[in-house]
Amino acid sequence: MADDLNDVTDDETNESSEAQIAVHWREENYYDPPAALTAQANASDPAIRDQFTEDKFPDCFTAYADLLTWYKPWDTVLDTSTAPFWKWFVGGELNASYNCVDRHVETHPNKAALIWLPEPESEAHQAITYRELYVRVNEFAAVLKELGLKAGDRITFHMPMVPELPVAMLAAARLGVVHSQVFAGFSGTAAGHRIADSGSTVLVTMDGYYRSGDLLDHKVKADEAVEAAAKEGQQVDKVLVFRRYPGQYSAKTPMVEGRDVFVDDLLAAHKGEIVEPARLSATDPLFLMYTSGTTGRPKGCQHSIGGYMSYVAGTSKYYQDIHPDDTYWCMADIGWITGHSYIVYGPLALGTTSVMYEGTPNYPDAGRPWRIAQQLGVNIFHTSPTAIRMLRKVGPDEPAKYNYHFKTMTTVGEPIEPEVWRWYYETVGKGEAAITDTWWQTETGGFLGSTLPGIDKMKPGSCGPAALGIYPVILDEDSNEVPRGSGKAGNICIRAPWPGVFQTIWGQPDRFVSTYYAKYNKDPESKDWHDWPYFAGDGATEAADGYFRILGRVDDVINVAGHRLGTKELESAALTVSEVAEAAAVPVVDDIRGRAVEMYISLKPGVEASADVENKVKVAIETDIGKIARPKNIWIVPDMPKTRSGKIMRRVIAATSNFTDTGDITTLANPEVVDKIREQVQSAKRAKGEVPRELSETEEHEIKSFGQE
Ligand code: WTA
Repeated sequence: MADDLNDVTDDETNESSEAQIAVHWREENYYDPPAALTAQANASDPAIRDQFTEDKFPDCFTAYADLLTWYKPWDTVLDTSTAPFWKWFVGGELNASYNCVDRHVETHPNKAALIWLPEPESEAHQAITYRELYVRVNEFAAVLKELGLKAGDRITFHMPMVPELPVAMLAAARLGVVHSQVFAGFSGTAAGHRIADSGSTVLVTMDGYYRSGDLLDHKVKADEAVEAAAKEGQQVDKVLVFRRYPGQYSAKTPMVEGRDVFVDDLLAAHKGEIVEPARLSATDPLFLMYTSGTTGRPKGCQHSIGGYMSYVAGTSKYYQDIHPDDTYWCMADIGWITGHSYIVYGPLALGTTSVMYEGTPNYPDAGRPWRIAQQLGVNIFHTSPTAIRMLRKVGPDEPAKYNYHFKTMTTVGEPIEPEVWRWYYETVGKGEAAITDTWWQTETGGFLGSTLPGIDKMKPGSCGPAALGIYPVILDEDSNEVPRGSGKAGNICIRAPWPGVFQTIWGQPDRFVSTYYAKYNKDPESKDWHDWPYFAGDGATEAADGYFRILGRVDDVINVAGHRLGTKELESAALTVSEVAEAAAVPVVDDIRGRAVEMYISLKPGVEASADVENKVKVAIETDIGKIARPKNIWIVPDMPKTRSGKIMRRVIAATSNFTDTGDITTLANPEVVDKIREQVQSAKRAKGEVPRELSETEEHEIKSFGQE
């Protein structure tokens, strides 16, 4: 196979079609799925794929919908009449909260639904049974109802990793209130933008939570959020504050009279109250999840109740291999799509036990995750390449010290380097667990590419084949299909809809069509899904074995520790500093976080470069977005490399930051600046000991094409 790939010639290096450039990928060896896993797997017979072939589409997905309890079955599996706004299970009625809670109370009330581990090891974990979850969800739903919230209204949560978060989500879902959870690590201002965009009048937050040993004041962000939302014309009437220690306030920030209320006080009036789950339409929205794109305005990805719930239940069953008796731990944060789909909705729909952890994985030491696994008997583990790289670096021998046994392990959110994959497999998994490298996105609701853990061989660095019922195609810039199995890079698209796909961008339907469907649509009037391939925004290759390798974003998005940051958002934050004339954000390869951000800044005439300006830019980014976006370096340069039309050539500065070849610069208006910047940046980086290791093929590919049309 590797030989076939090397046959590809170099004669097609057409400047305008980066997608066609042949890439000589090194192939990796296969690993067999563990026999013990296969013996018990939900998907153990390869014939399962026959049930999801294209001739069975879309009806094949009723197998997923059948995992749920419906008040009323659907009339139409897939309605394409308002293409590409696909509607799944039309006519069906259900409730997500009922499916994740009530129906399990009927069958196994005393089983743990959630097990929550506080970060301080001195605090005991809390096991919340399905019965208790039912009580808490109902009581909080009663609180929301009392505030006048009803189906279709939006509510914003800015909550850390505490059980109150899934309780709040399920309470909103019970009423049909559309929730929008903003990652707690985002700044108050970032939460405020999202509150305004979604039109929420209620914000739910927490006084404080633990991160790396500190009890953070989180409430302060609520004040910033309300202020930022008000600037955009959105008034927040109520801020509901959960208390990390009920009855005791853990934040220093004062409560605002009339606006801020402690949830434990409100709950007192609703003890034991039951709120009947609303009978909602399958196509009603369940939640919004904001993500970054190519403009400064975040996109509120709107997910449906029926399609989304079916898809996460089905993929949790077959790809996470969740059985009712498993103890499943996904170490992601519920503030991201992974936590929504694979901590809350998927696992709870299947009635399993889902573990939640408040803090950082290496607190107080790098053995913590494995101690938790041993203590709780976790047998399915799910995390990100960033966490794996970090744990490998700080505690390479820790897993061996603990007695736990995983049957499957998932990785998600970024490409995983084969050597990191092997450490995960051999050391964390002790050679007895299957790894699923799951490729998907906020927009897609659930997995698009992954091996089936009990069936497929694994190949480090590749996510594997398409998920059941998913039909990918790799297209070049001219809409030509890159030959299947050729190993050539192009834009990965999904030809047919699937139930988990988002319904629209909240409030921006045109952007939904233009970003995800317009690129490869030839007939905007068409009602036939064949005419609407979904453009994922990722580069990919497909090897002869049908395994996909994801090369990373093809748009202006930087994936830092698995978190998508838009260059425009970073740049607009930098531009709020009055001294700054121009700003450009580029990715730099980072051994732990995959990528980090480097900011290039040019100053207004007459302004001198100084540490003060640098610091202002850093603070602006932390305030507007959050600490996760903090640049690794800020370079104040005399000028930016620009095309004759004035566009900053990000790939040139990205190459400079990564010590790689800047490629063709003949189209620059000011080519002389390239050497100057290189000298400035690279000598400073050398002095700091920041010369990166040699880039891998995929990294090289991403950096050299960064920001290109
Ligand atoms: C990247 C996270 C390589 C990809 C679920 C995608 C991956 C973006 C993988 C979505 C993977 C996700 N291998 N790259 N297994 N999974 N990505 O929306 O670039 O936070 O487009 O969803 O992460 O990130 P998001």
